[in-house]
Amino acid sequence: MDHELLNQLLKPKTIAVVGASSVPGKIGYTVVDNLLKSGYSGEVYPINPTATEILGLKVYPNIKDVPAYVEAAVITVPAKAVPQVIEDCGQKKVKGLIVITSGFAESGRRDLEDQIVEIAHRYGMALLGPNIVGTLSNSDKLNASFAPFLPLNGKASLVTQSGALLIAIDAATYTRNVGFDKLVSIGNMADVNIADLVTWLDDDPNTTCISLYIEGLRDGRQFIEACQHAHKPIIALKAGVSAHGAAAAASHTGSLAGAAKVYGAAFQQAGVIGASDLSNLFDRTLALSLQPPMKGDNLIIITNGGGVGVLATDAAEKFGLPLKFAPEEVQNELKKYMPEFGSAKNPIDLTGQAGNEWYYDAVRYAIAQPWVDGMVVLYCETAITNPTEIAHGIEKALKDAGIHGKPVTVSFVGGEKSVAAMSELIKVGIPAYQAPDMAVNAIVSLREYENLSHMVAESAAPCAPSNQAAAREVIARVREQQRLTLTEIEAKEIFLAYGLPITRTLLAKSENEAVELAQKIGFPVVMKIVSPDILHKSDAGGVRVNLKDTASVREAYRTILTNAKNYKAEAKIHGVAIQEMAPWGTEVILGSVNDPTFGPTMMFGLGGIFVEVLKDVTFRVAPVTRGQALRMLGEIRGAPILSGVRGESPRDREALAEVLCNYSHMILDLGDEIAESDANPVLVYEEGRGLKVADARIILKKK
Ligand code: COA
Repeated sequence: MDHELLNQLLKPKTIAVVGASSVPGKIGYTVVDNLLKSGYSGEVYPINPTATEILGLKVYPNIKDVPAYVEAAVITVPAKAVPQVIEDCGQKKVKGLIVITSGFAESGRRDLEDQIVEIAHRYGMALLGPNIVGTLSNSDKLNASFAPFLPLNGKASLVTQSGALLIAIDAATYTRNVGFDKLVSIGNMADVNIADLVTWLDDDPNTTCISLYIEGLRDGRQFIEACQHAHKPIIALKAGVSAHGAAAAASHTGSLAGAAKVYGAAFQQAGVIGASDLSNLFDRTLALSLQPPMKGDNLIIITNGGGVGVLATDAAEKFGLPLKFAPEEVQNELKKYMPEFGSAKNPIDLTGQAGNEWYYDAVRYAIAQPWVDGMVVLYCETAITNPTEIAHGIEKALKDAGIHGKPVTVSFVGGEKSVAAMSELIKVGIPAYQAPDMAVNAIVSLREYENLSHMVAESAAPCAPSNQAAAREVIARVREQQRLTLTEIEAKEIFLAYGLPITRTLLAKSENEAVELAQKIGFPVVMKIVSPDILHKSDAGGVRVNLKDTASVREAYRTILTNAKNYKAEAKIHGVAIQEMAPWGTEVILGSVNDPTFGPTMMFGLGGIFVEVLKDVTFRVAPVTRGQALRMLGEIRGAPILSGVRGESPRDREALAEVLCNYSHMILDLGDEIAESDANPVLVYEEGRGLKVADARIILKKK
């Protein structure tokens, strides 16, 4: 969306409130009152059919009667009156519409929502909402909402799909001491969406961190792209991760592709840092808005108490940034700033006697050491020290050290004095938290930001040449027969077109042909029923393996056909597949779904019980880069099985990563056709020996 148009919507020079009211307590009254109270410097024009004056302002019966240019309109009239109001705004050449009114798509009136968007677009207006609280900005002294006041001033900006949450967060900014410049309620996102605001806030000089509360995105790919292009940290809390996409799935992948996993994958690919809950969103937003990214893994913890030091150490490991001992020369220097019984290993325990000078010396020295990438400073309130003085010591040490590219977070554990001292630290840009694990988690988010930025920068070039046309021919043939399920042989033809290493498979239509093809492929062979109506071949008694001679092939052919008929009498049988029997390897599964939000999305996991029982799988929105594919292999709990455990040699992860990459391009290219697919099992061999896709399944989209 056009940047200037969003400026006109979110930083308007003049505002009308259509549906302004002189009745205190009504939303139309509160919005006018808020605009005046927030110190907004532009003109405010209340619009009401009968009133003449509201809060000392002259009232106009219609926006078209205002004798001046109106850049944006806040709309607080009932839903049925909104279309005409927007029409009037269009004629008045208003640019931005902030539609607070509820009663649109969220309550079954998609038609009314489409209608207002159509009118807005006809006049080139941008529409925020409907069904929102409004928008607030400290730097513009603008409270165009019915939230009670501007938030505590700060450098982060929040976009939220829940209006009620905006109001709750607004008040909590003061109690939690986390400042925001802008709070934007985005509601139904009928026009302006989260991706538009990410791009706009990325250009906003008063925002250093973009914080998002997401219930459900409409266009997941636009969101990913907008976030990938942003230059500021983006943190998101995704709500509603329980019941998504998992219903009525025909494949393993479909049943495992819950919102938590798919959104988690999409966030990672978009470079978006996740928040585990609302509290964590606050904690991480504070650090991300005030501190630089953490460039390496070396975290140093300075403390005056062993207990909080241990808690922080545990947290560092839990959140994925385990502590290492500081190098000897660093330890030797730090020993000078503590008594004999202190510890300079890491955590650096200055002991309970540590006053502000010790903190000053230790912090100033440690932050300047090349080994140190980030620092957490902990303090337990003692009777012999003063929290405010300690805070000043830390602040001065960081200032005097003059190091700007390394993040620092702080936790003071104590009473009111500690809380007050932490407020001072936050005011000077040092994030401070009530508990050591919160300070560690916050600094970990700065490490995650750095890592994600590198991942996003990787190119997504396809790994191997593909033959999309050949794949589409197979699909066209299947569509001609009005089928949605491909046979294994058809699915493998498509896999082959994308360079996937399939086991050689030929179709036999008679017993004699089965023998002939088995001889051609070479014994032993596998035989499988080929029927678009039998999805689970083993359940139907339609699979025989390790057939070593012609007699067993003949017997298997007859048995498979009989079993299939008994299983489903009306099943259409194409024949029996004769297949190269791949040697045993580590079983893995690849799969895909067409996610409603993100489109073609792939899954990887170990096969057999790992996927059936443990659901040990990982997802990515297609396409994946080679780097991402390798990370997927490392992400599952069973990763050590691929890297070689208990004397087993490592599996061919390079070849597997290439297959993942090619698979992701296949499902993306054919995303308009393929609903779900599985490669299961895929047999992975030792390093250098590659892998084989032993079975393949593709289900087409209904058209
Ligand atoms: N032009 C100008 N003013 C108009 C108008 C029009 N076409 N039509 C009505 N109005 C005026 C009314 O006269 C009234 O002013 P008054 O108090 O002086 O009579 C004012 O607009 C509001 O209309 P009213 O009918 O009293 O509605 P309301 O204030 O009870 O409710 C909404 C209006 C928009 C607040 C309500 O419909 C709504 O959507 N509430 C939910 C909002 C919400 O929670 N959003 C966030 C979700 S997270």
